[in-house]
Amino acid sequence: MALTLEPDAKLLVATHNPGKARELAEILENRFQLITAGDLGLAEPEETETTFVGNALLKARAAAEAGGLPALADDSGLSVAALDGAPGVYSARWAGPGKDFSVAMDKVAERLEETGSEDRAAWFTCALAIAWPDGPAVVVEGRVDGTLVFPPRGSRGFGYDPIFIPQGYDLTFAEMETAAKDAMSHRARAFAKLKAALW
Ligand code: IMP
Repeated sequence: MALTLEPDAKLLVATHNPGKARELAEILENRFQLITAGDLGLAEPEETETTFVGNALLKARAAAEAGGLPALADDSGLSVAALDGAPGVYSARWAGPGKDFSVAMDKVAERLEETGSEDRAAWFTCALAIAWPDGPAVVVEGRVDGTLVFPPRGSRGFGYDPIFIPQGYDLTFAEMETAAKDAMSHRARAFAKLKAALW
């Protein structure tokens, strides 16, 4: 079986966020009929894996099995070299129940202080998985390397953007034009690989 999707095929997106689904439709050039896990009332599985690829696959497999359609899921986050890759798959969880990323960024700064390390190297990772209901799957990963800066700078973007300067630039992701970030991000790199695999 070829792991490709015909144009206009139904693709289930493992998200309950309609905004994210619209953004995905655009990235995928409106090539597929996107249906969200929210549309089908599917439960969101717990992200129990320890890698981005593992969690993306877990979410894609759960949606594909429950919905009976090929399903796309993502997992992403920030990894800090001096923190042995933390927060990593726990990036969203470091922001606490209030999803407050100033709390999460303070926590990164504190943990770095505690290590005494001067190393500010960090990277964002985005894993994307498409699983078919009968078992096979395609998984890709995109990564962008950079350096952390404190205090946070800039008001664009989301999450950890205000403390991350991509390699070769002087601005944080939150100071850059959205289009510039979107062209070089871990997500863009993962989607480029996914498109190369799918069409
Ligand atoms: P997920 O929704 O489980 O994949 O969690 C991803 C988390 O990683 C988000 O809540 C953000 O905190 C962080 N993250 C992922 N991508 C980015 C990015 O492009 N900028 C800033 N933070 C990001």
